[in-house]
Amino acid sequence: MAHLPYSEKVMEHFRNPRNAGKMEDADGKGVEGSPACGDMVAVYIKVDKDKKKIDKISFESYGCASNIATASIITELAKGKTLEDAKQINWKKAADELGGLPAIKTHCSVLAVEGLRAAIRDYEEKNGIAARKEPTTVEVVTSRLKHVMNPIAGLDMVKTNLVKEIRVEEGKVTVVVALQPDHQFANAMREDVKEKIEPLWDVKEVEVVFTPEG
Ligand code: FES
Repeated sequence: MAHLPYSEKVMEHFRNPRNAGKMEDADGKGVEGSPACGDMVAVYIKVDKDKKKIDKISFESYGCASNIATASIITELAKGKTLEDAKQINWKKAADELGGLPAIKTHCSVLAVEGLRAAIRDYEEKNGIAARKEPTTVEVVTSRLKHVMNPIAGLDMVKTNLVKEIRVEEGKVTVVVALQPDHQFANAMREDVKEKIEPLWDVKEVEVVFTPEG
């Protein structure tokens, strides 16, 4: 095993992560995958609707020690903060709080922070308070699909060329995926795609079509 120069605090949060675990009744949930390593993190928030403050927060990490430690520290930083303040937490702040991270581990803290931001965005979209009301375009859909993992390759489905075509027509989004319809991962992927695209404010319907390659 490679010995990375981890700070005491990183090791401490890795061994005793704060706020670890799934939250069944979350108001917002963000799942992000890292294109750099294929690891994943999920962040859950419960929000005080009047004060727009994060009341409860938890995470599940399928990543490395740095990811677990940063997810742990950002949940501590975000708890009790307003959504706007929580959005300001960045990977640098998280890494500083941890007494620094090795440079090659930067993406692990970026991943944790993206998980938090995605959970806040999910909450805002579900409650109709998303700041930006840009119309959904093929680009918007593509960038969201970059957060859907291709379980076969452990990388996102855009990068691994699984997405054959994206159509956006009058509130209906169609995603054509190069996979056998009866593939063991087809259903899970359909659910994942829907979960990422359906919350967009102007999307009424999402269809995922599987078609074998060639
Ligand atoms: Fe993947 Fe750290 S190596 S999250």
